[in-house]
Amino acid sequence: MVSIHDVINELSDLKERNLFRSPPIVEAIGSKAIVNGKQKINFCTNDYLGLSSSRRVVAGTIQSLRTISQCSSRLVAGNSPILLELEQTIARHRKTEAGLLYPNGYMANLGLISTLSRNRATIFSDELNHASIIDACRLSRTNVKVFAHNDEEQLEKLLHSTRGDKIVITEGVFSMDGDLSKLDRICSISKNYDATLIVDDAHGDFVFGQPGSYAGIPEHFHVNERIDMSVSSLSKGLGCFGGYVACSNPIRELLINKSRQLIYTSALPEHLCVASLIAIPLALKGHLQKRLFRNIRLITKGLAALGFSIGKSASQIIPVMIGDEKKAVNFASGLTNNGIFVQAIRYPTVSKGNARIRLSITSDHTYTDIQVALNCFEYVGKRNGLI
Ligand SMILES: Cc1ncc(COP(=O)(O)O)c(C=O)c1O
Repeated sequence: MVSIHDVINELSDLKERNLFRSPPIVEAIGSKAIVNGKQKINFCTNDYLGLSSSRRVVAGTIQSLRTISQCSSRLVAGNSPILLELEQTIARHRKTEAGLLYPNGYMANLGLISTLSRNRATIFSDELNHASIIDACRLSRTNVKVFAHNDEEQLEKLLHSTRGDKIVITEGVFSMDGDLSKLDRICSISKNYDATLIVDDAHGDFVFGQPGSYAGIPEHFHVNERIDMSVSSLSKGLGCFGGYVACSNPIRELLINKSRQLIYTSALPEHLCVASLIAIPLALKGHLQKRLFRNIRLITKGLAALGFSIGKSASQIIPVMIGDEKKAVNFASGLTNNGIFVQAIRYPTVSKGNARIRLSITSDHTYTDIQVALNCFEYVGKRNGLI
């Protein structure tokens, strides 16, 4: 029997190490949030283009609502036409033969990676890859070689010394550091060693890329057609919900037949597919990305002027590096108490001693929101002895 005494000890240990989490009560709409009853400027949402609260997306989704869910797996209850329409739209967006929807991005990673590797291929994974990729590697029960973050030379050495089938996995925009994968180099090396390249671009999708398509980091580096398979989430740039794999027709069929994360769970509900179908054309217009990148420039410049380090961030994910867990927790609560809703990101999400405040910038933030945030960073930062 699990001892409650042991559970309480484990929780105390987390508290002592400043690693305990207790999320506040939050009602968020766009860039504003009511946190424990008080209005704050919200820097915690991945709704980078503000589409989650777009009137057109919300109204269209409500209008489409006939049932809450199919209440069954696609393999039992069949494919809804709306789901297939979204999969075809995704395939066009990613310029692949096919798309396949999963209930979320986490499950898309588990499904694709574990089905594809199946005890036979060696996986090469960037050390900063997201937890869902790490869990997918574990579930694969195969040989996994982790390369240092964005270190294409080490990746090449590892590929060179490995026989058999190879799969390279990287993110596009790294979720906790906001830097970009060196995808052009990683792509060339993967091709040289005949490795399958999977890119999880959950944070770059619909944000980066060419105006009109915004196909993320692969497009940013002009290697879109050379990526073998993509994984993404619909709950970030697109502001909706769900996850997808973009791939060839045979891989799609393999996943439908073998991926337990697709077979043994209920399908993504139709109304959530409708939400994405309405949001995609809005995301492709480009005006939201323009506002977003203006905001990124403003806050990046302002934080640097105050003397904060934001690591190698080159995107809307801006980590304000603190290091010590306790200092990060105190800073986050000071900022939140002063009207700026942020979280301290700590171990195990990042390595020990690398705690940070992770800012998610959105196109919904106004010029004033950014100025208020910078003033607050200065005030609380000085009071906490950080600058
Ligand atoms: C890189 C990356 N991949 C996948 C996911 C999971 O996506 P979802 O929230 O749709 O499960 C996340 C979520 O934060 C992520 O950062």
